[in-house]
Amino acid sequence: MAVVSTLTSQDAIALENQYGAQNYHPLPVVLSRGEGVFVWDVEGKKYYDFLSAYSAVNQGHCHPKIINALKDQAELLTLTSRAFYNDMLGRYEKYATEYFGYDKLLPMNTGAEAVETAIKLARKWGYEKKGIPSNQAKIIVCQNNFHGRTISIISASNDPIATENFGPFTPGIVSIRYDDINALSEALRDTTVAAFLVEPIQGEAGVYVPDESYLKEAFALCRSKNVLFIADEVQTGIARTGRLLASCGNCSCEDKSCSGTPDVKPDILILGKAISGGVFPVSAVLANNNVMDVIRPGNHGSTFGGNPLACAVAMAALEVVKEERLAENAERLGNIFRQEMEKLIEEVDLVRVVRGKGLLNAIVINDTEDSSTAWEICVALKNNGLLAKPTHGNIIRFAPPLVMTEEQLYECIAIIRKTILAFQH
Ligand SMILES: Cc1ncc(COP(=O)(O)O)c(C=O)c1O
Repeated sequence: MAVVSTLTSQDAIALENQYGAQNYHPLPVVLSRGEGVFVWDVEGKKYYDFLSAYSAVNQGHCHPKIINALKDQAELLTLTSRAFYNDMLGRYEKYATEYFGYDKLLPMNTGAEAVETAIKLARKWGYEKKGIPSNQAKIIVCQNNFHGRTISIISASNDPIATENFGPFTPGIVSIRYDDINALSEALRDTTVAAFLVEPIQGEAGVYVPDESYLKEAFALCRSKNVLFIADEVQTGIARTGRLLASCGNCSCEDKSCSGTPDVKPDILILGKAISGGVFPVSAVLANNNVMDVIRPGNHGSTFGGNPLACAVAMAALEVVKEERLAENAERLGNIFRQEMEKLIEEVDLVRVVRGKGLLNAIVINDTEDSSTAWEICVALKNNGLLAKPTHGNIIRFAPPLVMTEEQLYECIAIIRKTILAFQH
C-alpha cells in the first residue's frame, strides 16, 4: 500500500532548506512511510532501507509489537520525571539488566547523552574508587571515533568538521590510534587514567573492524591497570553485528548468542539507537554495582530519561530481538552479503574493499577521499530503489534492518550490483 502525501519531495526539501538549520546533507529523498525493510517516499515510490537510521531500526520500520507497546503505554502514562516513581522503570531496569548481564542501568535518551553519562560515571569512579587526585582523571579515546555531538564528546574527536570553531574543549581526554594495542599499553602507564572508551567496530569512521585480538587484549590491559573498559555499542549493539553485543562475551546473561568477544565484559556498556527499535529516543548506561554506586541522588539525570513510554518501547524492542532471532539472521545474511560483494570486487575496479560484521558493512570506493563518487553511487542506488549513504568520503555503509529475508537480501545485492556495473561503464 503506497500512501501518497499531499506534499511533493521538492516542497518538503524546500521547507527544510528555508526553515531548518543546515546541519545535515541528506540524500534527496523524502520519506513518509516505513514498514519492515521498506520505506516509501511522498510520491509513493518504494525503497529498501539500507541504512536503518544509522542502525537504529534493527527491528524494521514500525514493528507492530513495538508500536503496540508505544500506543498502549501512551494511553496510560507518558512522563512523570524522576521526581516520582513510575510503574514501568523498575520493570524495564530489571528486564534490561538481566538481558545484558549487569547489576544496574542508568536510563537516558540519546546516544550522546549516554556517552556523556559514561564519562561522568568513569571520572567519579576514578576519584572515589581508584583514588585519582582531584580533577586529574583522564579518559583514553581512539582516533577517528564517533561518540556523538556534545562539547565533551567532540573534545574527543579528531574530525575537523565536527570540531572546527566549537572550542574550547573539555580537558582530560587522551587520543590514541584505534586497533593499536601498543598505543593503549603506553597510554595506560599514566596512573590518572580512569577509563578507555572504545567502539567495538568504528561505524561512522567507515566500519573499521579491529584485529580479532584487539578488544580482548585491550580489556585485559585495562583490567591489569585498574582502568574501566567502556564499550560504546550505540551503533554495534542490539544484534547488528551478528551478536547481541559486539564487545561482550563473558557476561552472566543466559543467552550465549551474545558472545561477541570471548573474555570481554565491558565495565560500562553504552546502548542507544536500536534499544527502542528506532521508535523513540532511548539510551542506557549499564554497569555493575561497584561502578554504578558512585552515582548518588542529584549527581546526574534527565527529565525524560526512564520515562514510562521509553521503558515500554525498549522492553518490546528487546523482546523482538530475541523472539525473531535477529542476531542469527544478521550473522547469516552478513556472510552472504560480504561473499557477494567479494565477487563484485573481482569483476570491477570501482569497489576496492568490503568489510564488516553481521549486517554492519561498508564498501570502499576506488577513488580519492574527496571525490563525489560514493555520493553519486548512492543517488543512483536511490533511483534503483535502495537507500544508503556515504560515510567519510568514499565509503558507503550498508546496514539494512535485521528483519530482512534472504530473498530480499539477494534482491538488494542485485540492485547494488546493477548500479555499480552501470557506474563502471
Ligand atoms: C558509536 C556511536 N556512539 C554514539 C552515537 C551518538 O548517538 P546519538 O546520535 O543518538 O546521540 C552514535 C551515533 O551515530 C554512534 O554511532
